[in-house]
Amino acid sequence: MNTYSDLEHFPYPFKGEIYRYSNNSMPLDPPSSIEVSNKYKQEVKLKRDLLTHHPERCYHSLSHTLDAQWEALALVMDNMATYFPEKFTLHKCEDEWVFHNKMVDEKVTFIFGDGATLPCEPLDFIGKHVQEDLILMVQKDGELYLDAGQLCFPGNWSLAFNLGMCFKDLHHPIPGFNEKGLDDRIRQFILRLEEGSPWGRLNWQMQAGDRLDTSLETFDEWGKERKLVTSENAGEIVHLRVEVQKLFRLPRSETILFTIHTHLLSLEMFATNKQWAKQFAGILEELPPFIYEYKGLSLYREAVIDYLNRRVSE
Ligand code: HEM
Repeated sequence: MNTYSDLEHFPYPFKGEIYRYSNNSMPLDPPSSIEVSNKYKQEVKLKRDLLTHHPERCYHSLSHTLDAQWEALALVMDNMATYFPEKFTLHKCEDEWVFHNKMVDEKVTFIFGDGATLPCEPLDFIGKHVQEDLILMVQKDGELYLDAGQLCFPGNWSLAFNLGMCFKDLHHPIPGFNEKGLDDRIRQFILRLEEGSPWGRLNWQMQAGDRLDTSLETFDEWGKERKLVTSENAGEIVHLRVEVQKLFRLPRSETILFTIHTHLLSLEMFATNKQWAKQFAGILEELPPFIYEYKGLSLYREAVIDYLNRRVSE
């Protein structure tokens, strides 16, 4: 159930009258790897439950990523304590670190760099304290490889399947993405990222239902809801799914930390903003088939356009 405060904080992703794939990244301000929303407790609990019951879907790492994992943990923990000091604190006495998460009432003391002092791998550990999914792209010979990740809320993809893949292969299923070398330009842009200058972008999808864990592995559970959408019930069933994605350079391990914070908003709530409803209806009407088919909208795009136009003219 969405509230007006979800609407207020929703990262509205559209600019202009049409949508096409592009490098829509912007310098990040403030440069924090994480955000804390009013759904923090509920989503962190959901992540932990998924990690316990479906580790094969939600966590994978290659052994050479351990140094990068510690670097990612340090960056995220520092950001938590810096940007949300009333919720998280971090005290460092040489290598002994004390992290206090007041939101879930947990205090952990560990030796930075010593895996035996944490209950699980560093990336898995810090991921259990944030709403974001965390992906490590290791840089080697001018290429980026997805060599570790904690992914509980994927937008219809699979961490297990994609583990070890390079940037271009990860994006291979997207129609038109390698036309005019877009994939290569984006890869080059990521390779040039520097420490202390993170970038962020928004990605949007639509889905029937309000599930955050829409993994490829569970498609048979959630994919069928698309068939139920009509222009009468679209407001309730259909949700706009926006991912706030951020890119950070981890300099010591030559790795990129990619964080994904997923927001869902029902169309009913979304359309209370008439300007948004009008702009989105226009974008959906103009959207070329290669994009809406890839995004899985073919079955209910027209029902959504009807619903939004009705709300605009109310
Ligand atoms: C570096 C970390 C990144 C990783 C690990 C990553 C991974 C992925 C994956 C797994 C998909 C789904 C592909 C599928 O259908 O199987 C995807 C989609 C996509 N990615 Fe990335 N990506 C990254 C960065 C970026 C950046 C920086 C951009 C653009 C500037 C980008 C643009 C896109 C677009 C446009 C889609 C299609 C999304 C849609 O239509 O809903 N990605 N990405």
